[in-house]
Amino acid sequence: MIKLCCNYVDEAVIGAENGLNIKHEFENYKDTIANIISDLNKRKDKPGQWLQWMNLGYSEETVWYVKEYASMVQGRFENILVLGIGGSALGGLAVTEALLKPYWNLLSEEQRKGLPRIFFLDNIDPDSMTGLLNMLDLSKTLVNVITKSGSTAETMSQFMIVKNMLEQELGSNYRYNIVATTDKRTGVLRQIAEQEGYKTFVVPDDVGGRFSVFSAVGLLPFALVGLDIDEMINGIKDMDLALKNTDINENIAAQNALIHYLLDTKKGKNMCVMMPYSSRLKYVSDWFVQLWAESLGKNDYVGPTPIKALGATDQHSQIQLYNEGPNNKIINFIRVGEFDNTLEIPQIFEYTGIGYLGGKSVNRLINAEADSTRVALTDCKRPVVTITIDKVNGYSLAQLLYMLEIQTAITGALYNIDTFNQPGVEQAKNYTYALMGRAGYEESAQELQAKMAMV
Ligand code: PA5
Repeated sequence: MIKLCCNYVDEAVIGAENGLNIKHEFENYKDTIANIISDLNKRKDKPGQWLQWMNLGYSEETVWYVKEYASMVQGRFENILVLGIGGSALGGLAVTEALLKPYWNLLSEEQRKGLPRIFFLDNIDPDSMTGLLNMLDLSKTLVNVITKSGSTAETMSQFMIVKNMLEQELGSNYRYNIVATTDKRTGVLRQIAEQEGYKTFVVPDDVGGRFSVFSAVGLLPFALVGLDIDEMINGIKDMDLALKNTDINENIAAQNALIHYLLDTKKGKNMCVMMPYSSRLKYVSDWFVQLWAESLGKNDYVGPTPIKALGATDQHSQIQLYNEGPNNKIINFIRVGEFDNTLEIPQIFEYTGIGYLGGKSVNRLINAEADSTRVALTDCKRPVVTITIDKVNGYSLAQLLYMLEIQTAITGALYNIDTFNQPGVEQAKNYTYALMGRAGYEESAQELQAKMAMV
């Protein structure tokens, strides 16, 4: 199970000006937290509440269909190309980067045991897109286009380009190289998929993009590259059970939610750094940044700014600011109990200033770096929480992501905001539609042009 250490946000360690009296606050908020947790669990099955992501660990049907399709296409493709952006890409990136062997796409077919390479095209940069599409043999590529709305301009323009290239190469058989993940009923992609006869999977109702990693949005790419999705589902179920506990003293998501809320509202810590000490968890920070930013940035005044960092790399880039710059941040470390490999540093250059490293392991070094950075931060009265996972595997990773989702939902409830909408994202999307001449957005286009002419 995941552990949370919040000793280093306590006022006994970092002083009352920057820290909290944890015991006292947990007692103070005991009933509020219990009510929030019961309320989330009561509302999760109701339509329109956007809480269906809390049921994804129990969706046996999706798991079955995903596995069936993955086994059907196994051995047919050398590459999986995921087209999507934001919530339709970040969960997939975070999980595949963490769970596939490092540098997966550079391994030989034999080293990958015949499983495909995987690429996420999550931007519309013309140079990187051209580079990737020139490099891939599209006839041996399965394209998974993922968009809940079915109309996001970035994803749909990628799709239109790739579809054309596939059709030119494969004729009408191109459709067997496409699988679409989108809304069950609505949206342009759903319409096209039905007309053209693509295999489709569903982004369930009431699951927002940033909460969709354990729907077919993530599970399909995971199964296609051979990840053990049952292990992930077990992790979610066990975590879900633990987080149903309404006692804050037993519920780590509630504890971390309350700490972040109080440090922001009482102590001015309005920035939140996510810093895993594991390169494999690098994209968990990207995923978390979206989850936290889109969920909590609301109402013109709520929104602790999330920042991504990587230990130990960013000790040499960001830590100066965190130690000595404005004391307005809470730093979240993620630590790994046991790495898959132990890497010894050879005993060479013994009589030089680096001789002390010889005979130690890199494992010990990365942990020592995390310990020393935490001590340095707390010396400077900066609050630090540490989340520890036993190992980077499907079970622990699914627990971590689900725990952070529940933490976000509880934090949003503490701020009393709508955690599950994203009007700011929609507004920018609508302006893009208007600028690019989409029918129905003519008025917006005029308004936009007037605004642009003003500056
Ligand atoms: O979380 C969100 O709602 C957004 O970031 C979306 O995931 C993103 O805009 C992509 O949307 P869609 O899946 O509709 O293409």
